Amino acid sequence: MTQEKLNELLRDMSLEEKVGQMIQLPAEVLTGGGLVTGPTGTTQLTDEQVGMAGSVLGIKGAEKIRKLQKQQMAKQPHHIPLLFMLDVINGFETIFPIPLALGCTFSPKMAEEACSAAAAEAAADGLHVTFSPMLDLVRDARWGRVMESPGEDPYLNSEMARAMVRGYQGDLRSKDKVAACLKHFAGYGAPEGGRDYDNVELSERTILEDYLPAYEAAVKEGCRLAMTSFNTLNRVPSSGNKWLLRKILREKMGFEGVVISDYSAVEEMVPHGIAADVREAAKLAVEAGVDIDMVSNAYAGHLAELVRSGEVPEKLVDEAVLRILTLKNDLGLFEDPFRAVDPAETEKVLLRADFRQKARETAAASFVLLKNEGILPLGKKLVAWIGPYVDNREIYGAWSFPERPEETVTIKQGVEAKGLPGMSFARGSYVMDKGRATKFGRIPNPSDEQADAWMEEALKLAASSDRVVMCLGEHKDLTGEAGSRTSLGISKGQMELLRKVRQVNPNIVTVLFCGRPLAVKEIAELSKALLVVWMPGTEGGNAIADVLFGDRVPQGKLSMTFPRSLGQVPVYYNHFATGRPNPPHEIHLFRNGYMDEVNAPLYPFGFGLSYTEFAYSEVKLDRRQMAPGERITASVTVTNAGDVSGVETVQLYLRDPSASVVRPVRSLKGFQKVSLAPGESREVSFSIEEPMLRFYDIEMNYVSEPGRFEVYIGGSSDTENGAEFVLV
Ligand code: GLC
Repeated sequence: MTQEKLNELLRDMSLEEKVGQMIQLPAEVLTGGGLVTGPTGTTQLTDEQVGMAGSVLGIKGAEKIRKLQKQQMAKQPHHIPLLFMLDVINGFETIFPIPLALGCTFSPKMAEEACSAAAAEAAADGLHVTFSPMLDLVRDARWGRVMESPGEDPYLNSEMARAMVRGYQGDLRSKDKVAACLKHFAGYGAPEGGRDYDNVELSERTILEDYLPAYEAAVKEGCRLAMTSFNTLNRVPSSGNKWLLRKILREKMGFEGVVISDYSAVEEMVPHGIAADVREAAKLAVEAGVDIDMVSNAYAGHLAELVRSGEVPEKLVDEAVLRILTLKNDLGLFEDPFRAVDPAETEKVLLRADFRQKARETAAASFVLLKNEGILPLGKKLVAWIGPYVDNREIYGAWSFPERPEETVTIKQGVEAKGLPGMSFARGSYVMDKGRATKFGRIPNPSDEQADAWMEEALKLAASSDRVVMCLGEHKDLTGEAGSRTSLGISKGQMELLRKVRQVNPNIVTVLFCGRPLAVKEIAELSKALLVVWMPGTEGGNAIADVLFGDRVPQGKLSMTFPRSLGQVPVYYNHFATGRPNPPHEIHLFRNGYMDEVNAPLYPFGFGLSYTEFAYSEVKLDRRQMAPGERITASVTVTNAGDVSGVETVQLYLRDPSASVVRPVRSLKGFQKVSLAPGESREVSFSIEEPMLRFYDIEMNYVSEPGRFEVYIGGSSDTENGAEFVLV
């Protein structure tokens, strides 16, 4: 449909029809079920309003969507097709690693391919929009939703944002693409205390410099929707925040897409305390620029009347509705409300072999080897695989809803597929302790007898094996939304199992499943090798076997810092020096830090080992001075000094040691992955240009300032391999 036709349609619509387009229904209203991602039973719409709604969330199934599309369009005076939206966060039916793990690949290419596969499956199932990428910068591992983010760095998150939007959207009219939705705008990843939905207090400079870049990258890549966040940003809820939604998102970033609220976030402005009632919440939201009210009764209950009373100009409604109609038009829905989806074909797309292969490769590349004292890769040894994750299918993320979880490959299956002799398996313990509950309630409580029996069997196997692979971790339902924790450990039962196994066999490799950086100091001390596998998804078991037996070499680098202890959190690499800097591994009186712990994390951002060693030459600069408009080439020679091939992520960090405001001790400004054979060397160069040096100065101008700059290039954010130049 042409833009003129869209304008004509808009002119022809009644106010009720327009408001209907701004209402999003939860699945339960149309189907009585569907995927539940928030409080249920809260919708108070009339049948007519349900009939007018412009979109729905939480429904899967091509046949079901086709039927509902027909049913709902028939109720609409202008038969406007609905948008079907869903959280496709790390894969649809083929589940990929959680986004925090995807960040550890430092591979935008892998991220793009993962999202492209997810889009193909979701579109084949009839969906039009995914509520992804989540781009909230995260620094506090207590917050359950860190698993959904690419990580703690603005540059890495921006690169992943661009790649993910490309992967989902491509050409929106092609039937294997869906519209992407950046979220949660903005700053949701910094709630006080790591408590989900809590207040976020950030200076304007910090918001602009650290938290907004990834969202902006998604906007520049053409992301079609943006979702408002639940939190208050400096005491203003995002869904009523004109500065955020109009000044920043639309004017500064140039976003022209659809703004959708998070789940019931519009009417939550009442409990937040900035709306006296839902009517006022509706007014605040439409004035701030929220186009679609997700599952709250605000727009349905009050928007038409607010317009008729003259309190809200109909122009605001028209602008919102035109953006929604434009999105539907760009998806081709007016030409074909079913987007040529043939339910009979859907099954052929879901879990396609090439998608599974991609998921396997991506999972292996997302694993981070944090420790290895010569015990990996596993050779031809007697290996006991012990722990509650040995044969556990729940190794996909908290935002994964596979219809066929039985397709998930467990570690045991992955190991057995290798066909190697001498493998034994024992569950050893439960994932959760007795009496502990996840956000969905109690896991069936273990019986002591059963736990004892599993422990005894495990210890027997451990004592009679050369190596032990402990398969441990946090339960996926302790992560994700509403998954904030005041501890960062795994269950007591698992720790007891690890300690007892260590007494009978010191040759331990620990494989750790988690949705966040955990406090793993004791686990690391008790293990000769520690491999973080996050929540690896459908092909997790195969990928773990590939890496542990050396068929794939670990290459992941941490996208989020691992603390020494909970007490250090939030802890992140791009911190400030302070006026009394403490050497990272030392404690000195009257200097920045704690009395009882050093400042250095256990494993820093950007860190990750391989099965080989990479040697770096000194940093070479082709000039020591640069004027704006010029560039400096910084290079190193990286050598594979080991005897197996490997992939290294070479990272470029800059530091501005003296500026009109303090600057982080390091800022990631580039990375390149290089694959090197044993003995092979490669020169890796980065171009340093003046825009990379810009920041919000003391006057809040986004500028660079002349002076000395430090350059660091290495395999982790704590590299000291550096050089200096001067910007004149
Ligand atoms: C949830 C989440 C958001 C998700 C939405 C729809 O509450 O905050 O990330 O996209 O509701 O499911």
